Amino acid sequence: MAPAFLRTPSHATRTKIMTELAVCLTPSLIPLFEVENYIVVVIDIFRATSSICYGIENGAEAIIPVAEVEECLAFQEKHPDYLLAAERNGEVVSGFNFSNSPFSYTKEKVAGRTIVLTTTNGTNALHLSRKAKKIIIGSFLNLTSICNWLKKQNENTLLVCAGWKNNFNLEDTLFAGAIADRLKGSGFILDDAAIAAYDLFQVGKSDIPAYLAKTSHSGRLKKLGIEKDIAFCLQVDITTAIPILADDKLVKLV
Ligand code: MLT
Repeated sequence: MAPAFLRTPSHATRTKIMTELAVCLTPSLIPLFEVENYIVVVIDIFRATSSICYGIENGAEAIIPVAEVEECLAFQEKHPDYLLAAERNGEVVSGFNFSNSPFSYTKEKVAGRTIVLTTTNGTNALHLSRKAKKIIIGSFLNLTSICNWLKKQNENTLLVCAGWKNNFNLEDTLFAGAIADRLKGSGFILDDAAIAAYDLFQVGKSDIPAYLAKTSHSGRLKKLGIEKDIAFCLQVDITTAIPILADDKLVKLV
């Protein structure tokens, strides 16, 4: 092939239609990206985005993500019919009925309801990404669904890992790698963080639960006696709904 500087316009055109797949390894790196130029996928495998996917699949009318506990409480007076969910450090915030355990997002509990949700990391990542072209929610639960949708969009895509308190975590990055694994070869160019995530996924993919058992958040959730949430969040493709942010609410993409 001719060197880049000798290539004809047709090569240039072909290069232009390649789309970028970038990974933001922690929310603290979000300011480095011009998020308005990307479709953002927010990822918080343990447990916020897994529970959001499950809740929207189960017919929740909307999930309103808010960054602070006080913002969540503020809905109580205006909307007494809304369910209020708050989590900090893996635990239900005192005074709230539930937080972000996927078992709180069953059909029986959420169908037809609006939930206001604040979590330690997931809703923070969402809040920091709010200027993005579009924001969707990803988890192992809806992996195939979001990858098929992203392939159709042909847009620069940023996978935002919620991490832990602005630090890197393994589970969100490994999942970003699972997306990179599906999109590679479909016209996406991976940035270095996406390549690292892809490589990490190759290391862990043969037994994801075993690989992720060493993560700090698994340890935290185990100490709280909620190992069953970990197993639940690692189920692949049990849902198809794609939660998308529309007017500050996460709703089912139609
Ligand atoms: C979060 O958003 O910080 C997580 O989902 C924490 C948790 O496991 O509850």
